[in-house]
Amino acid sequence: MTIDDSNSDWFSGIRRFAAQNSIVRKLYYSKLQRPDLPNGIGMSLYQARSSWALQPDSCPCDIQFVEYLKQHNIQGKSIFHFGTGEHHFVGLQNQRFGQPNEILGITASALEHQSYVQLVLKNTQLSKYYKVLFADIYTLTANTLPTFDVVTLFHLCEFYLSENVHLIHQNDETLLQLFLDKLRPDGRILFYSGSQKWQAAELIVQTLEAAGKIKQIDQYESLLIYTKN
Ligand SMILES: C[S@@+](CC[C@H](N)C(=O)[O-])C[C@H]1O[C@@H](n2cnc3c(N)ncnc32)[C@H](O)[C@@H]1O
Repeated sequence: MTIDDSNSDWFSGIRRFAAQNSIVRKLYYSKLQRPDLPNGIGMSLYQARSSWALQPDSCPCDIQFVEYLKQHNIQGKSIFHFGTGEHHFVGLQNQRFGQPNEILGITASALEHQSYVQLVLKNTQLSKYYKVLFADIYTLTANTLPTFDVVTLFHLCEFYLSENVHLIHQNDETLLQLFLDKLRPDGRILFYSGSQKWQAAELIVQTLEAAGKIKQIDQYESLLIYTKN
């Protein structure tokens, strides 16, 4: 049996892709290179091995969010926070507020979740106002979420993996709509214009804005603050 040219191109393309993918996975495992995004390594490896330390220069969104909460005296509210990092900066700072907010954070990283567990074992007051869910945000639905006064979607569009479509309920458009549905009247939803995928996220935000569903009410440093119409 002979393989025609187009087939052999196809096979060599697949082989090249598999080789590149296996190099990415090996670099990741060896800790020589830890991509910030799960693309190329898959969600399972990302969940098992990724962990994000606070990086004030390259990724200041959580720091700016805490500053924004303080500046606007946002206390005693319910907050959903997408992407806790291993530092849990938002939860730890919130604990020092006179009237802490009740925060539900989410992480896809087992190591970040373990660091939360370790913090709670030492700091027994922490979980009273700060809970962290280990889950893929794209698996959330209206049935699993309460309503919120404030939602951070700083990492919208950064972590969607189309190959996981059979494991999840949402894509980036439906995820944003889900959180808008869960936002209380006058609630605020915050985006991060410094996100690696802000161009893609901005398109989704602009589409909803053009449809009259949301409007921007504020900006703080690189954070854009919207509310529902
Ligand atoms: C780049 S880190 C930023 C962490 C923190 N916001 C900061 O700026 O320091 C991205 C965060 O999103 C979380 N994350 C990534 N993919 C996720 C997913 N599919 N579902 C839930 N959380 C996810 C990671 O676990 C991590 O905490």
